[in-house]
Amino acid sequence: MNRPVNRAAPEQVSPGGDGSAGRVAIVTGGASGMGLSVCRRLAACGDRVAVFDLDGTAAERAAEELRAAGGTAMAFEVDVTDRALIDEAVGKVRAAWGPVRVLVTSAGVFAFEPFTEISAESWRRILDVNLNGTFHCIQAVIPDMIAAGWGRIVTISSSSAQRGSPKMVHYTASKGAVIAMTKALAREYAHCGITVNTIPPSGIDTPMSRVSQAAGQLPDNETMARAIPVGYLGSGADIAAACVFLCSAEARFITGQVIGVNGGAVI
Ligand SMILES: NC(=O)c1ccc[n+]([C@@H]2O[C@H](COP(=O)([O-])OP(=O)(O)OC[C@H]3O[C@@H](n4cnc5c(N)ncnc54)[C@H](O)[C@@H]3O)[C@@H](O)[C@H]2O)c1
Repeated sequence: MNRPVNRAAPEQVSPGGDGSAGRVAIVTGGASGMGLSVCRRLAACGDRVAVFDLDGTAAERAAEELRAAGGTAMAFEVDVTDRALIDEAVGKVRAAWGPVRVLVTSAGVFAFEPFTEISAESWRRILDVNLNGTFHCIQAVIPDMIAAGWGRIVTISSSSAQRGSPKMVHYTASKGAVIAMTKALAREYAHCGITVNTIPPSGIDTPMSRVSQAAGQLPDNETMARAIPVGYLGSGADIAAACVFLCSAEARFITGQVIGVNGGAVI
């Protein structure tokens, strides 16, 4: 197959690196859990961070926290399933700060339902947020990265797609598709200086996992920790550390990869 070849290192084709301070980053689901941790790390690295979240109040709270810590941040109340809203918000980010360099897609929803009880509506909703939302956000920002010859995309998938999770067939299917999509995008845009990787978390203590525990769908932290080889749960900060590295200029040779951050739960 004939493919355009980009022999220049990414830092040579993109003015500024783009490991430079002040990159424009969008984090979906940035108001809570892993997304919020990613926002904190990116802002601490000097990125200008747009917090995209369905919960506009929480997104504004997150952006205020980032600004109070010396960062540059804006909040946007968006539903990732709504392409018009995404395009509008991305347009505002561009108008304020310039082209988008970094995208992390952490917005996600889950449900625990036996397969035979999954309604068509529940199936559609999980796929719509986790898969279609990821599609919309990537398609909305990738033209900026193509034009710059530089970009970093990290999708947050799930270890449930690596090992299968009972009562989560819809969730598992959506996250499996995100992993496949990440790989295909990585190949399609590798020659543009854009890397696309996925982190499938497992055993991370976040508001999402606490909701499942409160509903009796997940065991308590102590029981979960016993099932993780390192013997403890991870945190949003563990995800953010890997994510920020994947978004760095140094990570230019890593693309299409599934980078497990899971305490050894999936090897
Ligand atoms: N917590 C875990 O153990 C775990 C494990 C594997 C994968 N994940 C995945 O990691 C990601 C982050 O999860 P978390 O644990 O931080 O969850 P969380 O619930 O703390 O955060 C998710 C955020 O996404 C936002 N969101 C939900 N639907 C949205 C929509 N339609 N549009 C915009 N924003 C929306 C929520 O408002 C919330 O702020 C999710 O994609 C989740 O599926 C979590």
